[in-house]
Amino acid sequence: MSELAQYADLLTPIHQFLHCKTPQAWLDEARKPERLPLLLVDHMNCELKAAQTAMLLLRKYVAAPESQTGLLEWLKPYEHFIYRGEGSLPELLAQNKISKNIIAKNAAPYAQDILDPMILLIKEELHHFTQVLEIMEARDIPYQSITAGRYAKGLMQAVRTHEPCTLVDKLIIGAYIEARSCERFAALAPYLDAPLAKFYVSLLRSEARHYQDYLTLAEKIAGESIALRVQQFGELEAALIQTPDSDFKFHSGSPTPLK
Ligand SMILES: [Fe+2]
Ligand SMILES: [Fe+2]
Repeated sequence: MSELAQYADLLTPIHQFLHCKTPQAWLDEARKPERLPLLLVDHMNCELKAAQTAMLLLRKYVAAPESQTGLLEWLKPYEHFIYRGEGSLPELLAQNKISKNIIAKNAAPYAQDILDPMILLIKEELHHFTQVLEIMEARDIPYQSITAGRYAKGLMQAVRTHEPCTLVDKLIIGAYIEARSCERFAALAPYLDAPLAKFYVSLLRSEARHYQDYLTLAEKIAGESIALRVQQFGELEAALIQTPDSDFKFHSGSPTPLK
């Protein structure tokens, strides 16, 4: 796909960062038209989860008590749509973007380093959320509740339990999830119809930046080399992507034959 060629500058570092490419067996499964509803619903969930993860980091490590409620309110309409089936695309599109300045806790280390990229990331993930929903509505694909796959859980199990290592590990995981999403969007695009392929390719630039932002933050907060930790999470991530997985999802492993 020629359109992808112009993204080589974005994809080369991502392919170097990830320890494996998406298995062809996953792409063969994902391109089946009957998989599209699940793929889009899971993609929409992933966009919300990405926003929630960044929000948790903001609330835990950066935001002062007076900013907590405003931050929580920001995600509520999207969460109510997913968890309660409330709201609609026009209502979500009419949401006011967060306007208040977020006040950082006194002496929160790295507050500004975390604040600016995470606020931008949340805005972009919520925009992606409504973009996926628009595509689903245009194709008459209803939202349905689905279970989470093993991928994020599998990565989170390896997080160390003392600070600042917990934060550093979560940021490295954030980098891997963003990088894998970017790699998968690019790998899947050539198999999709033109509007969907165009949408997936349009996501590459922001997801590539999200991966970089997480990695930069992890390095800064660790204050020492994170190469070993990145290597360990890279191996774990690749195992989750390459080993057989019977639960087909956007970030699932190599699909086992359907029962
Ligand atoms: Fe996104
Ligand atoms: Fe992202």
